[in-house]
Amino acid sequence: MNLFKRYTITSALPYANGPVHIGHLAGVYIPADIYARYLRLRKKDVLFIGGSDEHGVPITIRAKQEGVTPQDVVNKYHQLIKDSFQRFGISFDIYSRTSSETHYKTASEFFRKLYDEGKFIEKTTEQYYDELANQFLADRYITGVCPHCGNDKAYGDQCEKCGTTLNATDLINPKSTLSGNVPVLKATKHWYLPLDKYEPFLKEWILEQHKEWKPNVYGQCKSWLDSGLHARAVSRDLDWGIPVPIEGETGKVLYVWFDAPIGYISATRELTDQWELYWKDKESRLIHFIGKDNIVFHCIIFPAMLKAEGTYILPDNVPGNEFLNLEGDKISTSRNWAVWLHEYLDEFPGMEDVLRYVLTANMPETKDNDFTWKDFQTRNNSELVAILGNFVNRALVLTQKYFDSKVPVCSELNAYDSETINQIAPIKKLIEDNLEQFRFREALKELMNLSRLGNKYLADTEPWKIFKDQPERVGTILNISLQIAANLAVLMEPFLPFTSAKLKKMLLLNETDWDNTGNVNLLDSGHILGTAGLLFSKIEDPAVEQQLEKLRQSKIKNQEKESEKSIIAQKPNVSYDEFSKMDIRTGTIIAAEKVAKTKKLFQLTIDTGIDTRTVVSGIAEYFEPEKIIGQQVSILINLEPRELKGITSQGMILMATKPDGSLVFVSPAQKIENGGEIK
Ligand code: MF3
Ligand code: ZN
Repeated sequence: MNLFKRYTITSALPYANGPVHIGHLAGVYIPADIYARYLRLRKKDVLFIGGSDEHGVPITIRAKQEGVTPQDVVNKYHQLIKDSFQRFGISFDIYSRTSSETHYKTASEFFRKLYDEGKFIEKTTEQYYDELANQFLADRYITGVCPHCGNDKAYGDQCEKCGTTLNATDLINPKSTLSGNVPVLKATKHWYLPLDKYEPFLKEWILEQHKEWKPNVYGQCKSWLDSGLHARAVSRDLDWGIPVPIEGETGKVLYVWFDAPIGYISATRELTDQWELYWKDKESRLIHFIGKDNIVFHCIIFPAMLKAEGTYILPDNVPGNEFLNLEGDKISTSRNWAVWLHEYLDEFPGMEDVLRYVLTANMPETKDNDFTWKDFQTRNNSELVAILGNFVNRALVLTQKYFDSKVPVCSELNAYDSETINQIAPIKKLIEDNLEQFRFREALKELMNLSRLGNKYLADTEPWKIFKDQPERVGTILNISLQIAANLAVLMEPFLPFTSAKLKKMLLLNETDWDNTGNVNLLDSGHILGTAGLLFSKIEDPAVEQQLEKLRQSKIKNQEKESEKSIIAQKPNVSYDEFSKMDIRTGTIIAAEKVAKTKKLFQLTIDTGIDTRTVVSGIAEYFEPEKIIGQQVSILINLEPRELKGITSQGMILMATKPDGSLVFVSPAQKIENGGEIK
């Protein structure tokens, strides 16, 4: 890790169209923050860059839905996201945004340079256009029938029912969501980055020179590269974004995935005039922290852009994480299936580090992982409270009690003392090695092993039992324990910064460098400690139950929404003649009984005004036979008779369907004569 002079650490810019949730944290911001904090402790020159991604179609859709401007949307969420990151201790050197002036300038210059140097291809293609709204339609603004599964609410880029990626022109019966109009195809010009030209370079650079990238990242890159790259449009017909910086080209903006990663550069530029060192000097190490849905953009497209531009360094590593699920279900903003950071901070004040801990312990480094509130509680109670907190508290309280809060002298060591002490440096080394390889879960485990070491040491030596007879021995034990606590205070900082600060205060630990840890010389004997307090407190069942209840409420709301959505589409037209062939009458149920050995069928006797007849009807799941006697109904009387379970059914009762699939009778608004025509 000493090859590089400085580090440029970026974390994916979250879209400013919603708050940040635990999936974002576990996937991107916590690992990036741990890494940045660690390097700072190692006295490296580090910039940790973040910011909001404020362009793209979803933001314009959200604005439309809420009846506000896109700028209003991003202002609101940028502030919310920025504040909650800060409260959570994500230690950005700058948290900027892509609507900033510097970013407009940087992104425009970048595009313009590639344009002037002929790095783009200009292509005219046909795209859907809404003649009522007078604009080209982004894929998300077009809905229609999915050619694969028949879902009639598929989007122009994807069918959310069957998950297939679509082109807008694949949709059957496309409709503009702006006007409801049928869109027409119209020619439009765009600029494309010919990724195919960069394929040999990318293959060599990633597949040969970066075999050390995480297998999930490397694997995705390989499959993209193996299946061949194609030119990608870097502009869009939209009115929200950075205008394409070419004279006379109006109504066109940079594609959001072109401008957003340049946002990392813009933010650095906003922060320091030395920004070019962090982006152009070969001795700077660029690292992108991202989630797996961003891999192709950060490993293939952005590097191709940087390569085309020519003056920038390329990322040296792109530690991409998999996804975090919540209680066994995919996290979803639209279904409100998430733990929102700003809500957590409000509901669990002072417990930032608990969430940091649990999300690091469950970090989806190699595969998708699950967050559950039960696990949150257990990890807090039986790891943070019972091991780390308990150990530190005992060491401090006993010192207070026996030595008036002065660090006692360490006298002669026995074999067990030495064995314990000798484990400190190797554990520290393992923390370092794991962090340097982006193995945050393992690194955290090692940190906890250090607490376990201390906890076990105290439990085994039982100083509280021997103080009367061997005060000097107790002094040694507590000295060693306090030294371990001091090591913990420093080594936990990247993971648990709030707790680290608390513990340092309790120990009145002077500035201690990471590099000075790994031994038992951090606290001089005679050093006066601060006041002991609790680092963590137990989480009781009601707190967890309340969170689960919140999620249950989301589920219920979603089910309601789903059933509203389940109204089925209109069937093809029929002529009046066809309709009038059906003879529908009012009738009354005069007898009802369940058809033996069936779940769904009733045998009904109906007075139709014309006659009394038998109808077999599939409504048994929803009614009690005795309760429907006398019910007036609508009955199709000229339906071809059919045999059902050995009974001849003469006609059909009309039923209305509720969203949950249950049925109700369709009867005239007032009771009328049986045999009345329904037409
Ligand atoms: N906003 C994107 C997302 O949430 C990430 C953008 S990363 C950047 O998926 F590099 F483009 F900035
Ligand atoms: Zn589909």
